Amino acid sequence: MNDIFSRLPELLLPWYDENRRELPWRQDREPYHVWLSEIMLQQTRVEAVKGYYTKFLEALPTVADLANASEETLNKLWEGLGYYTRVRNLQKAAKQIMEIHGGRFPTSYNEIRALAGIGDYTAGAVCSICFDLPTPAVDGNVLRVCTRLTADPSPIDKPVVKKALTEALAAVYPTKSGTFTQALMELGATVCVPNGTPKCERCPLREICLAHKQGDETDFPVKSKKKPRKIREMTVLLLHDGERFALRKRPKTGLLAGLWEFPHLDGRRTVEEVLEQLEAQGLPVLEVEKTVEKTHIFTHIEWHMTGIFLTCRQGGDYTWGDPSDYALPTAFRIFLE
Ligand code: ADE
Ligand code: SF4
Repeated sequence: MNDIFSRLPELLLPWYDENRRELPWRQDREPYHVWLSEIMLQQTRVEAVKGYYTKFLEALPTVADLANASEETLNKLWEGLGYYTRVRNLQKAAKQIMEIHGGRFPTSYNEIRALAGIGDYTAGAVCSICFDLPTPAVDGNVLRVCTRLTADPSPIDKPVVKKALTEALAAVYPTKSGTFTQALMELGATVCVPNGTPKCERCPLREICLAHKQGDETDFPVKSKKKPRKIREMTVLLLHDGERFALRKRPKTGLLAGLWEFPHLDGRRTVEEVLEQLEAQGLPVLEVEKTVEKTHIFTHIEWHMTGIFLTCRQGGDYTWGDPSDYALPTAFRIFLE
């Protein structure tokens, strides 16, 4: 494995210089910027992150601004990105930087790894990209490239597999650590792509790649079986008066904590049942407009939703407003598209 990996710097660094995409977070090596971008990129595509990244830094240009931001500001800046724990941890870490490190971003791997929401991947990315430390950042892209290179059938969702790969890569890291980290990710994102055939004909690693030699590139990476997601059926009430919608705030803990939502009932309800319930709340419905089916997939659960659009006059125990003024997660916002 290591004689393959040891060739990586000489093959990847010149390729990256020629082929790198210009991305907003590649304009500087400011740790706050790199950290924020890596957190956003962990579960969201590059194209989607671009706009969020720029807007976030315009609103909160420094770590101190992030530490002091209100919950509503943060939710609004994150709205639509999903996995809101990420933004809560960003602020927690910003507060740690203010309190423990006097407002200066720490520069050692262990101090950075100890911040809220920063795991091996993010610590490795920040330390290599910002400080040129030989710390690999092993994400899905890097796992895919490396398991294909060595035709390695180990299941990549197992922590020991990731750990072994991190160590093998650390052993071959060049002085230009930051460039190398980004080159590996970039190859995975643009050439050795997921979902479909990798573009081996223009890959700088094709001469040393075992999966390519065998012609079984898409057999890697191998994953062990996951247990299937739970399914939750629900009926979502899109109650409006022609202008404003009935909204309510979600509980402070659990999935999508503290964000806004449309009122909903467990299970699939008939229109008649819904009308009866609303009548009992003192909200007589003027018109039943339409019913729409939507599915939203989270990590561990799927919501299968029947949305019913209803007009009525404002009232009941709701906040009536324009949904675009509230941090309404995508799971609910899809009804308005
Ligand atoms: N995916 C994860 N980190 C990335 C980065 N820094 N640039 C492009 N894609 C990425
Ligand atoms: Fe991936 Fe193909 Fe390059 Fe191998 S040759 S690393 S499979 S793109």
